[in-house]
Amino acid sequence: MPHTLALIGARGLVGTSVLSIIEERGIAIERLVPVGATRSGSLSFCGKEIAVQDIGDVDFASIDVAMLCAGRGAALEHAEAIAATGCRVIDSSSALRTRESIPLVVPELNGDLITDTTRIVSNPNCVAIQVALALAPIRDAFEIDRVDVTTWQAASGAGTELLDRLERQDTPLAANVIPCIGDLDEHGRSGEEVKIEREIPTLLGRPDLMVAATATRVPVRNGHGAAVHLRTREPASVQRLQEVLRSGAGLRFCEPTTHPEGPSPRIDADGIDDVLVGRVRVDPRDSRDVRMWVTADNLRRGAALNAVMILEKVLGLAGPASDPR
Ligand SMILES: NC(=O)c1ccc[n+]([C@@H]2O[C@H](COP(=O)([O-])OP(=O)(O)OC[C@H]3O[C@@H](n4cnc5c(N)ncnc54)[C@H](OP(=O)(O)O)[C@@H]3O)[C@@H](O)[C@H]2O)c1
Repeated sequence: MPHTLALIGARGLVGTSVLSIIEERGIAIERLVPVGATRSGSLSFCGKEIAVQDIGDVDFASIDVAMLCAGRGAALEHAEAIAATGCRVIDSSSALRTRESIPLVVPELNGDLITDTTRIVSNPNCVAIQVALALAPIRDAFEIDRVDVTTWQAASGAGTELLDRLERQDTPLAANVIPCIGDLDEHGRSGEEVKIEREIPTLLGRPDLMVAATATRVPVRNGHGAAVHLRTREPASVQRLQEVLRSGAGLRFCEPTTHPEGPSPRIDADGIDDVLVGRVRVDPRDSRDVRMWVTADNLRRGAALNAVMILEKVLGLAGPASDPR
């Protein structure tokens, strides 16, 4: 059955990627309503040119689903009001992620939280998505007692403006590493670190899991990297870890024979649906001490693809039989 969709932030990095993934996956959208910060211009979808509207012009009661890809402010201002019209909402910002009544969903991990009565779904933080997918098969095989994550996050993670400034080398990020993403809290933790520490335990269904994060921004265009250091409850071996990672949902294990240095964001992850995992090690001094490298396309797997997979769940669609990439 064809569906109607409003895409708020349709011209942004995530919005643009959402539209191409909907086309790739062949989701039947009968009517698309693209919304921007201003009512101006148009965009191309399924071979048609469609005018970009102002949010105030949209009759959400006549639309099945609204995907919000327009930041925290827009979500706080509009998500509840849109849901009150009967239109279901998928929000990609951090604005609603801590509300108990709103599920935080990675479809392969906890997609069953979406039911016929779910009005709003939150799309998780990009690093939380890729690291939780990589940890899930290890949790199932060995249980996990603690996780430490250090990230190398691409400029695209901060949206169009930083990406444009990086292109022009007109930012302190040029040829540099910025060891802080977002505002610091009273404990000195950055906003990005708090999201990673809070969301990974939620996605793994382990609210008690201790996750400690250090998040940095690097001058990579697209593709986040994460060095993950974890402590398993049961002793682990490299061979068994590789086995479970090879069959993990949404994962591609990069074999040491083909990727001895591990997968890299630009060359391996950019444009790919899967989360890539490599450089899996067990400390020879302690078989419960595991390290690995995880990288993924933050715009795609960390935002737009996850949002589209949530859309498929909300619409009751099965999704493509196999990964198109
Ligand atoms: N980038 C990532 O890797 C990533 C990953 C996970 C989550 N997210 C989240 O996804 C959201 C979008 O990120 P992005 O990277 O796509 O940002 P972006 O490139 O800066 O795009 C934001 C878009 O939002 C639109 N917008 C802003 N305020 C609006 C309003 N009040 N009403 C309607 N449209 C509005 C802008 O419209 P105009 O085109 O008209 O200016 C722009 O197209 C953010 O919440 C971000 O935190 C991003």
